[in-house]
Amino acid sequence: MDYFHYQNDSLFAEEVSVSELAAHYGTPCYVYSRRTLERHYHAFTDAAQGHPHLVCYAVKANSNIAVLNVLARLGAGFDIVSKGELARVLAAGGDASKVVFSGVAKTADEIVFALKQGIKCFNVESQAELERISYVATSLGLVAPISIRVNPDIDAKTHPYISTGLKENKFGIDIKQAFNVYQLAYALPGLDVVGIDFHIGSQLTEIEPFLAATDKVLALIDTLATAGITLKHIDIGGGLGVPYNHEKPPHPSAYAAEIKARLEKYPHLQLIFEPGRAIAANSGILLTKVEFIKQTADKHFAIVDAGMNDMLRPSLYSAWQAIVPAEIRQDVEEREYDVVGPVCETGDFIGKNRRLAIAPGDLLVQRSAGAYGFSMSSNYNSRPRAAEVMVDGQNHYLVREREKIESLWQGEHLLP
Ligand code: LLP
Repeated sequence: MDYFHYQNDSLFAEEVSVSELAAHYGTPCYVYSRRTLERHYHAFTDAAQGHPHLVCYAVKANSNIAVLNVLARLGAGFDIVSKGELARVLAAGGDASKVVFSGVAKTADEIVFALKQGIKCFNVESQAELERISYVATSLGLVAPISIRVNPDIDAKTHPYISTGLKENKFGIDIKQAFNVYQLAYALPGLDVVGIDFHIGSQLTEIEPFLAATDKVLALIDTLATAGITLKHIDIGGGLGVPYNHEKPPHPSAYAAEIKARLEKYPHLQLIFEPGRAIAANSGILLTKVEFIKQTADKHFAIVDAGMNDMLRPSLYSAWQAIVPAEIRQDVEEREYDVVGPVCETGDFIGKNRRLAIAPGDLLVQRSAGAYGFSMSSNYNSRPRAAEVMVDGQNHYLVREREKIESLWQGEHLLP
């Protein structure tokens, strides 16, 4: 459930008309709903009630500091994958002691920064990384809390680019080797072995792969306990899908209920979630203007001012996201359009074969754009990145200025 809805044929974000936002901030523009972000966060915390838990929002989905701040105020933890993401969390008022650090290539510099900030845990993805963290922590005279990210070899049944829990993927440590790596972790100096972690993929629409992975990991937890290695938390990653079209992913409550049932035997094992998309995707839209309508022998094109540099998902994953008008109109004929951007690539589209009743100058809205939208945007074709706006009831705030042309070459230098 989200707070974008039509009132008398005009689309509203909470209590503000999106056409008003476009007039105020220009297009293309991302618009987020605070109330929706909060609702989705609470869907996880409510679902986890009764078992010790922490929801670590996956910063990569949408890393705007206003978004992070809204969640930090609710007590959220954060899942980060870089020094930059940790710096954002801190700038947003997030609590370092609730941060878990994932990612396969943590540099020594990133490890130093995270250790000094006192993060909750490093999710370690290889033996070499474990040794690096031990070395860095020891040389600083600090102790690094670690968890091993195991790769459970489970098919998440999602797009191959966002599937991470198969043994051919680069992520995590093969679950079959994990016991040995835990023993090594236990023996190495400067490490405190606190947890176990997995993340099998993103946009999962079925519950079974999560449960199969959880079962494998709980079996490993039991084996570790018999060897005297007791863990404080299990981190089940992110990955819960959202309805973009007709998908029916499990509700967080159904998902958490199944996991909690499996954790009954482990009342002290803290349950950590790392949701990104499930919190952010349907909390945001991308507002764009129709510049031209172009008709060729085969097609109608709606040429809009948002391109693949603003929203990469359709080009990269053939992702489908709803495209709707900001103002529903009856005075023009509905036609089937490819909604394409200004970027010089054939793959520059935000939607294909969409039935729309539109004219040049109209505003279109791409739904479900709050996750992996702005955060994956770029300056390709030297296009300044879009503005970002947060709506809160009847108020709206600019949470990121539209990039300026001059900032496109900031940090670049001419030859002498
Ligand atoms: N934890 C880890 C370790 C991850 O790698 C990810 C996402 C998450 C949590 C959050 O997953 P979520 O709950 O959002 O599914 N750009 C792609 C998605 C890439 C996801 C990468 N990892 C897309 O636009 O579909």
